[in-house]
Amino acid sequence: MVKVFAPAKINLFLAVMGKRDDGYHELCSVLGKLSIADSLEIRRKNGERGIKIKCPKYKDLETENNLACIAVKKWLLKRGEDWAVDLILHKQLPPMSGLGGGSSDAVSALLAMNELGDEKLSRKEIIKMAAEIGSDCPSFLENGLCMAEGRGEMVRTINHSAAHNLIGQKVLLFRPNIGLSTPDVFQRLSQTNKFSSVEWVHTRLGMWEKQKISITEFLHNDLESAVFYKHRYFSAIFEKIKKTFGLAPRMSGSGSCCFVLIPDEFERVAALESLIYQAWGDDSWLKFTEIIH
Ligand code: C5P
Repeated sequence: MVKVFAPAKINLFLAVMGKRDDGYHELCSVLGKLSIADSLEIRRKNGERGIKIKCPKYKDLETENNLACIAVKKWLLKRGEDWAVDLILHKQLPPMSGLGGGSSDAVSALLAMNELGDEKLSRKEIIKMAAEIGSDCPSFLENGLCMAEGRGEMVRTINHSAAHNLIGQKVLLFRPNIGLSTPDVFQRLSQTNKFSSVEWVHTRLGMWEKQKISITEFLHNDLESAVFYKHRYFSAIFEKIKKTFGLAPRMSGSGSCCFVLIPDEFERVAALESLIYQAWGDDSWLKFTEIIH
């Protein structure tokens, strides 16, 4: 048996430059991984066949379509091994949140299978398989902050000091009790045609790298407008947080989870949390976490 953690991500910067011929969108994103994570137990059972998944908190995720099951199946097929696998998925990360939970679970499953298997897949094969499972899967194979381009699958670690400075940064995640579908959000953006230009993206990245703008000024997400036009309560709470606390909230990925970077000297976390609960209700989801390496 192997137990692995599957960290969340947030998109500190997410620019969408246009729709591609293959239906995906061309994007450029800076992602940070978080200390909050799902955990996954994977058991190998020799002499049996089939993949079973248990997900105590979310029964509807107990299907063969779960990305972790898809990952296990792909690994077995590629290696030509045919033992049975039992998965137990302990979810901390709510699905349909833009935190990459499902993708991270899949990548952790691939890495666990490599530990359990008689022979391993190479790193190159794992990266290729991850990209086939989901656009943001390969980013979970890199350490530190990373840059994702293409449809999100072309990933590299960012090594400049503006990025290093963010390791250990405190983050408050907050999510209304609603999930958003990634394809829907991209489709809505496409309909409005509100894309960023490549020049603007490169200028912003350069300014952040050279520390001409702070991380707060750099934060950006093109998918917000596609979501906020329909769900007006996002803009309302963002304005309130900016005005009351001087902080800069953003949505992560295609939502619905949002985040705010919390400066070390900030002493009004309890007031911030109660503002969010008041606006979005007691069934909203709040978690304090930090950016990890
Ligand atoms: O790659 P993945 O299966 O995670 O993507 C889910 C969906 O999100 C895609 O089918 C597509 O509708 C949308 N998407 C997109 N452009 C991207 C990534 C995802 O349009 N770069």
